[in-house]
Amino acid sequence: MEQHSVTCTILFLFLTQYILHIDTSRPTFRPTRLVSYSLPQKRAFKKALGFNEDVYLNFTELTDKYGYPTEVHTVTTDDGYLLDVFRILPKCSDSAKSYPVFLLHGIFDTADLWVVTGTKTGLGYVLASNCYDVWAGNHRGNFYGRRHVKLDPNTDPDYWNYTFDEHGRFDVPAIIDYILRSTGQSKLFYVGHSQGSTNYFVMGSLRPEYNDKVRAAVMLGPVAWMKNFDNPIARLIAQNYVAIKAFVDNAGLNEVFGREHFVHFVVEYLCVLAPNFCDLGLSLTTGYKQGTIPLKDISVAMAHLFSGTSIKNLAHFSQLILSGNFQRYDEGVAGNLERYGSRRPPQYNVSRISSPIVLVSAESDILSKLKDVDILASKLPNLVENYVVPESYWSHHNHVWGYNAPELVYAKILDYFTKYKD
Ligand SMILES: *[C@@H]1O[C@H](CO)[C@@H](O)[C@H](O)[C@H]1NC(C)=O
Ligand SMILES: *[C@@H]1O[C@H](CO)[C@@H](O)[C@H](O)[C@H]1NC(C)=O
Ligand SMILES: *[C@@H]1O[C@H](CO)[C@@H](O)[C@H](O)[C@H]1NC(C)=O
Repeated sequence: MEQHSVTCTILFLFLTQYILHIDTSRPTFRPTRLVSYSLPQKRAFKKALGFNEDVYLNFTELTDKYGYPTEVHTVTTDDGYLLDVFRILPKCSDSAKSYPVFLLHGIFDTADLWVVTGTKTGLGYVLASNCYDVWAGNHRGNFYGRRHVKLDPNTDPDYWNYTFDEHGRFDVPAIIDYILRSTGQSKLFYVGHSQGSTNYFVMGSLRPEYNDKVRAAVMLGPVAWMKNFDNPIARLIAQNYVAIKAFVDNAGLNEVFGREHFVHFVVEYLCVLAPNFCDLGLSLTTGYKQGTIPLKDISVAMAHLFSGTSIKNLAHFSQLILSGNFQRYDEGVAGNLERYGSRRPPQYNVSRISSPIVLVSAESDILSKLKDVDILASKLPNLVENYVVPESYWSHHNHVWGYNAPELVYAKILDYFTKYKD
């Protein structure tokens, strides 16, 4: 019953997004400039509707409001993508002794993840208050990373020819190098949530020289193997991904769930006007147990979700689900031969990830299943701890938004950071 409603909701949102954006009057089926539903100009209107302003404030506005001075840096990747990275300055008397930490969010998300629930439970704030120099990154394609030196995301399909493989090979290394250059340090700490961990595993496998630049990495709700992924909608989409991708490619659509698209707009308004519905949505899609994150925080946090990724990225996750392997993007036999020199896509060799890794997972998380995390854990050569939060209700977003995340997760992060300082 639950499962059917998830399927219907997601398919409905997915299809509406496309139907609304296909301009069939044009012979080439190119999408029109996507409609901007969530522009700043709408703020007066939202205020009048009684929105809590945190719902629509961006990263720097939120950190300014709560008294955490933030710098905005723009990092250029080797392949020309421009990514904003937000630096929350350490709050302590001797900030010269502070260590840089690179935070990376998951799919459909942005750096906002780390500050949306406020100063008590936002990991960005908690780390800055503990004297860390916090750098919250964004990957290509999201709201703060939707720019390129040459390509126009609105008109060049090549802009969207990427998956988490490119996040791992280009975005993460570029940001690491930038942080180390700016701070004059030789190593940093890393925290990844969800796909923010996948990206790291890709980097550590394909560009293993970066392992030496990381003191320790903590992965919250890690995603690599998806063999035991039994989410029925995701499976249904995965099984039909070839047809879906062909359909949307044909329609000239490469971007999905952008910040200024219809889905974001629906979620933003629903989460404020009908927060219980929003709560239910999170629970059906991630395994979240209702009531374990304050409703007010859920509505602010989810209103910042849906910030854009590529169709190809979703296709890549579909391939992981179908193959049961953690492997590079399958371009088809001819494409694979050209790109990888083999008929099948190569596996990511996670045995190359020599940096210390802490995995943090949860029993009720349906996006990062414990059995899949165990497969990963069994292959990591420098696994420090495979920690399962000892609360059966704990799920994918309790790690980052839960009112008790400071005790159950952040305390562990701080302990390990202290331990790996030298
Ligand atoms: C946040 O919004 C303000 C006001 O619209 C804008 O000036 C600022 O550049 C935005 N910050 C980022 C990081 O986009
Ligand atoms: C996308 O990029 C990959 C290499 O990064 C290439 O093999 C592939 O042909 C490209 N696809 C398209 C449609 O341009
Ligand atoms: C994976 O990496 C490890 C460590 O570098 C190496 O010993 C092993 O041969 C690699 N496996 C494959 C299949 O390349």
